Amino acid sequence: MDVNPLRDGLRIEPSPGPTTIVIFGASGDLTQRKLLPALYTLSTAQRLPPRFSVIGVARTPMDDAGFRMQFRKAVGTPENSDLAASLEQHLYYIPGELDDPAVYERLREQLAAVSGEGGVLFYLAIPPAAYGIVVKGLGAAGLTRQDGASGWRRIIVEKPFGTDLASARALNGLLHEHFEESQVYRIDHYLGKETVQNLMVFRFGNGMFEPIWNHRYIDHVQITAAETVGVETRAAYYETAGALRDMVQNHLMQVLTLVAMEPPIAFTADSVRDRKMDALLAVQPLVDAKRGTSGVVRAQYGDGWVDGKTVPGYRSEPGVSNASVAETFVALRVHLDSWRWAGVPFYLRTGKRLPKRTTEIAIQFKRPPLEIFKRVTPNSVAPNLLIVNIQPDEGISLRFEAKLPGSRMQLAPVMMNFSYGSTFGVAVPEAYETLLLDAMIGDSTLFARHDFAETSWALVTPVHDAWAASGETTVPQYEAGEWGPAEADALMEKDGRRWRTL
Ligand code: BG6
Repeated sequence: MDVNPLRDGLRIEPSPGPTTIVIFGASGDLTQRKLLPALYTLSTAQRLPPRFSVIGVARTPMDDAGFRMQFRKAVGTPENSDLAASLEQHLYYIPGELDDPAVYERLREQLAAVSGEGGVLFYLAIPPAAYGIVVKGLGAAGLTRQDGASGWRRIIVEKPFGTDLASARALNGLLHEHFEESQVYRIDHYLGKETVQNLMVFRFGNGMFEPIWNHRYIDHVQITAAETVGVETRAAYYETAGALRDMVQNHLMQVLTLVAMEPPIAFTADSVRDRKMDALLAVQPLVDAKRGTSGVVRAQYGDGWVDGKTVPGYRSEPGVSNASVAETFVALRVHLDSWRWAGVPFYLRTGKRLPKRTTEIAIQFKRPPLEIFKRVTPNSVAPNLLIVNIQPDEGISLRFEAKLPGSRMQLAPVMMNFSYGSTFGVAVPEAYETLLLDAMIGDSTLFARHDFAETSWALVTPVHDAWAASGETTVPQYEAGEWGPAEADALMEKDGRRWRTL
């Protein structure tokens, strides 16, 4: 018996119609680590439609049996082995070169055999250089055409969505040659995170927070995405990306706009995305003639200690050039030109090899207008703080001042905590589960629209251009296991503020 009445709310769920997912890059890492496990979990939650299949396409020579074996490895020892075995029967595989028209011919035949009148979701889990080849291949084979409401065709495009403004525009142009915008789902896995979605519920499903969500009450906002991992095996990609492109252009800009957006008129994909776009368009340029890039700090990790172990600096990582200037840390100050946020800075920081894996949004409120307890508190009272913890301990906390028990009037900051885990008693779904399901249902609220991708690149590209033009051969260093470089602290101190200690 279900003993947690709060879970009942989780049962109001739309379901997808008959669907076939075609994964390009089916033998790759993303399919193995994220997509196949997410599909299995969705099946255990009974969220997959009765008619459901997956067709994997990749260069690796393999047959259906090989792909099914790969699925078994991806899900490990499943809790429900009958379900895993039955899902496995609906997995198919087409080997071949992505630029070979014969592959798309086979795909058409396979789709006719397994999908019938159902919808088809294409998933580009391949390197960005191959996106164009596949999109053109699908277009040329007539596979992007929709056939009535049930015979929909959609495409999920993985990140990175371009490397700068020009390439993002070119990619949008190419997609729009073969798909309507409503068919395109640009994935940003941060939007699938439960607490990121909860931010909208917190703001727009409650009446009491919105009135204070503005420059009158908020002093500033800090958004942190800290990782303990280094570059791992991704040097080839990361050397050309760096933290600004890898994390800020997409994930942090998405989170920023969810904090900053005006209330949408409805919880629909376009209402939400229109308001997010307004917020993004209000962001002041990150580089200007007077201040240059002084509002953006970049740095790279050196040797250090993380989780009790010594770790090499970025330039000594396998596959990284010993003269690399790729940044593994970025901190920036962002201002929005809007009535709501006039004068309120948003500070963003992200980095690898930081002391702790944690992603959070901290909204710091202004102090009370009159500090009547100044006489009894040694320091002035701590400002109220609202913390939205995105990971790993999903939840929301509010810090406020309380009276210490006793005959004397003494104040101390205390926390009021809401934790997802203990409140609902269910595991928070993986972002890929949420997003795959949304794409099957046809809900693009949690996907990046074409204009968001481009506008975000328009903000970030000049920073990269300025860094490249500076010709600097080194970037500030921070010891692995430290909270970034001194320059990041200085960015805040200049404004009379400090980064939160996490
Ligand atoms: C990815 C980046 O998009 O997000 C990675 O490419 C980064 O470099 C990852 O590690 C972080 O995601 P999460 O969900 O672990 O915060």
